[in-house]
Amino acid sequence: MKRIGMLTSGGDCQALNAAMRGVVKTLDNSNNRENVEIYGFLDGYRGLIYGKFQMLTGRDFSGILTKGGTILGTSRTPFKTIKDPDENGLNKVEAMKQNYHKLQLDCLVILGGNGTHKTANLLRQEGLNVVTLPKTIDNDLWGTDMTFGFQSAVDIATDAIDYIHTTAASHARVFIVEVMGHKVGWLTLNAGMAGGADIILIPEIPYDINKVVEKIEERNRRGSRFTIIAVAEGAISKEDAKLSKKEYKKKQEKNPYPSVSYELAAAIQKKTGKEVRVTVPGHMQRGGSPCPYDRVFASRLGAEAGKLIMDGQYGFMVGYRNREVVRVPLEDVAGKLKEVSPDASIVQEAKLLGISFGN
Ligand code: F6P
Repeated sequence: MKRIGMLTSGGDCQALNAAMRGVVKTLDNSNNRENVEIYGFLDGYRGLIYGKFQMLTGRDFSGILTKGGTILGTSRTPFKTIKDPDENGLNKVEAMKQNYHKLQLDCLVILGGNGTHKTANLLRQEGLNVVTLPKTIDNDLWGTDMTFGFQSAVDIATDAIDYIHTTAASHARVFIVEVMGHKVGWLTLNAGMAGGADIILIPEIPYDINKVVEKIEERNRRGSRFTIIAVAEGAISKEDAKLSKKEYKKKQEKNPYPSVSYELAAAIQKKTGKEVRVTVPGHMQRGGSPCPYDRVFASRLGAEAGKLIMDGQYGFMVGYRNREVVRVPLEDVAGKLKEVSPDASIVQEAKLLGISFGN
């Protein structure tokens, strides 16, 4: 008998259900199908800490390939405070270990992004068997070329830019579309290129407002009446990038703008006299049905996770490198961020196409 605990943690994204279905289908198709019990922990690590779970069967995972969100629910349980006692003095790490052992689990299948992987690695260090799957629209997990959720979010952010295009052209305005992605620019770069943005601003390439304005004016001189700027929510100016973390935080406390896009819009309007509008698609980018690519991708990763469990191989994230599904040791993944390199070929190609990065 194999007893498997499963949980989804951190921000949701498309294809979480597809990935879990992939794991369970693979186990169900194995010779030992009667000998598998699945404990679905509710709302991420919280379920494991407080012993909140549901016993699930293969049937619970049927019909969810196309369903957005996560059937297990999720929550953010920051790694930063995971070792701190909760408000009632409970040791959260010990509680997770105790629940794991009380249920006599053979392993945990954990689906999550960066923070989730730090905690998953801690649980591994504490002696629990863990297999993880890389989810996030940000695509910022180390050790895998791609995370599921990313491609679906690229599609949605691209749609947003496409819609804005027609209005921008009609009104001869500058339009900023703010794209999620946390501290990295993968989503903005891909959606920006797919949507034909003229300027793409990402955290890894700090921008100079004068270069942004130069590009808008150059477009005007060439007869283009409008400009589309795809801005990552984590984009940062050259001046701000020079500040220490502390100085930047202090500056942000006094910042009257709700996000970098609004600050940028005010600066562009002041320097060019042009009308500037901001669109923030926000959490829409994580919502709805996974795109076909993500359904296939998450199912493939889920199948490999199922195989790892059948083989009793633990301590790995199932990742994707050079178009192959791979097993990546958890200790190599935890705590590292996969950023866009300013020298990456995609950035160089975007520049060849005339896209400005405002630098
Ligand atoms: O990590 C996914 C993500 O959507 C980021 O792109 C974004 O910065 C963050 O989560 C938003 O978090 P929350 O859902 O907690 O507002």
